[in-house]
Amino acid sequence: MSETVKISYGGKDFELPVIEGTENEKAIDIAKLRGLSGLITIDPGFKNTGSTTSSITFLDGEEGILRYRGYGIEELAEKSTFLEVAYLLIYGELPTQQQYEKFTREITYHTLVHEDIKKILDGFPSNSHPMGVLSSLICSLTAFYPGSLDPTRNEDAVNLSIVRLLAKMPTFAAWAYKNEVGHPVNYPDNSLDYCSNFLKMMFALPAEKYEVNPVVSKALDKLLILHADHEQNCSTSTVRMVGSSQASIYAAISAGINALWGPLHGGANQAVIEMLEAIKADGGDTKKFLNKAKDKDDPFRLMGFGHRVYKNFDPRAKIIKKAADDVLEAMGVHDPVLEIAKELEYAALNDQYFVDRKLYPNVDFYSGIIYRALGIPTDMFTVLFAMGRLPGWIAQWKEMRENGEPIGRPRQIYTGAQTRGYVSMNKRG
Ligand code: ACO
Repeated sequence: MSETVKISYGGKDFELPVIEGTENEKAIDIAKLRGLSGLITIDPGFKNTGSTTSSITFLDGEEGILRYRGYGIEELAEKSTFLEVAYLLIYGELPTQQQYEKFTREITYHTLVHEDIKKILDGFPSNSHPMGVLSSLICSLTAFYPGSLDPTRNEDAVNLSIVRLLAKMPTFAAWAYKNEVGHPVNYPDNSLDYCSNFLKMMFALPAEKYEVNPVVSKALDKLLILHADHEQNCSTSTVRMVGSSQASIYAAISAGINALWGPLHGGANQAVIEMLEAIKADGGDTKKFLNKAKDKDDPFRLMGFGHRVYKNFDPRAKIIKKAADDVLEAMGVHDPVLEIAKELEYAALNDQYFVDRKLYPNVDFYSGIIYRALGIPTDMFTVLFAMGRLPGWIAQWKEMRENGEPIGRPRQIYTGAQTRGYVSMNKRG
């Protein structure tokens, strides 16, 4: 017999069903609570609220587990490629050789973007933050592919939009960077793999020969895999929320990019490096900054530390830490900022404040260091996060749509003024 929970209120008992996931996670289904009792639930920041059931990503923050469609992140990061993982997330299974080749071929074919998009890009001042440019260019696809505006259209149309998004994202990301530094854009080179093509579009200059370094390209591919999905986080919930109104997939992904931008979410990787640089410039006293982070009167937080769901080591941070060491060694980079990062990590992990609150380094603590070693400028870090997260956003949007989920529309408890009459301006005191 399925389990239930009893709630007593106003002298009455209400019985609500408990639903259970495949990893034994349990939830009270409160959908009927208001109808039965007149009560709603309130949970700012959705700290204890499941917004959906999902079969894409399993995450156990207490145990430090992350799996995409049942496959451990450690194994995928070691053995797979980003496009294979994208296929897995979006279509539910690892592709066969034939499916993989078709998927890769289609993505490669669609990397070029409409020439008029360059005019939109030209309208942005140089120095524009590339995240703002990226979200705008992605949203502009609604104008270039008006056929995609209705997401209830057939599977082929949806699949074409998915391929276009994956194909054009690196082109837009590289162009957002070129705009920022005032360089001419590079067009895609379809003889290259996904990451190498992006690196070439980003770094190649007309006056110089550019060869993609395979160490850089492989490291980037791994980073994208590690960022590919993370269940119902802020940006993914945004994508699902916007998509739930049946807005176009391009509009939903553009909204996700904007949500990711903030320093408490994907923007943390940029904030981490800025923090480490500030510590270095201040003389390198990590203790001083640790104390600032603990001081409740000081708004400073240790960026790259803490996570809403991981109360143990973020499994992605473990893989990235090792990858950072490998990349720095392979490229012969000595980064003093890495030394500060290691010192800070050691000090925080041994400090009672951080131990008590289970604040561990998250994925962003080390990803910024790798990006730096790969020669990626700081304000492009979150753009790379967006490139990595794209298949997850798409998979979640697709699942939401296939499940026929209703429009997202939370309730509230109103705490403002009660009804009152209008007072004309000359009588207001
Ligand atoms: N530095 C210092 N103290 C911290 C930090 C930190 N980085 N993170 C949390 N705390 C403290 C809080 O002050 C709070 O202390 P209290 O209980 O004494 O009041 C306690 O730990 C719990 O923190 P909350 O803010 O309630 O936790 P929440 O789940 O709301 O926030 C978040 C999670 C936003 C990630 C937070 O830990 C943070 O701001 N970290 C720094 C930014 C960061 O690295 N973000 C990237 C997250 S990963 C990602 O989105 C990809």
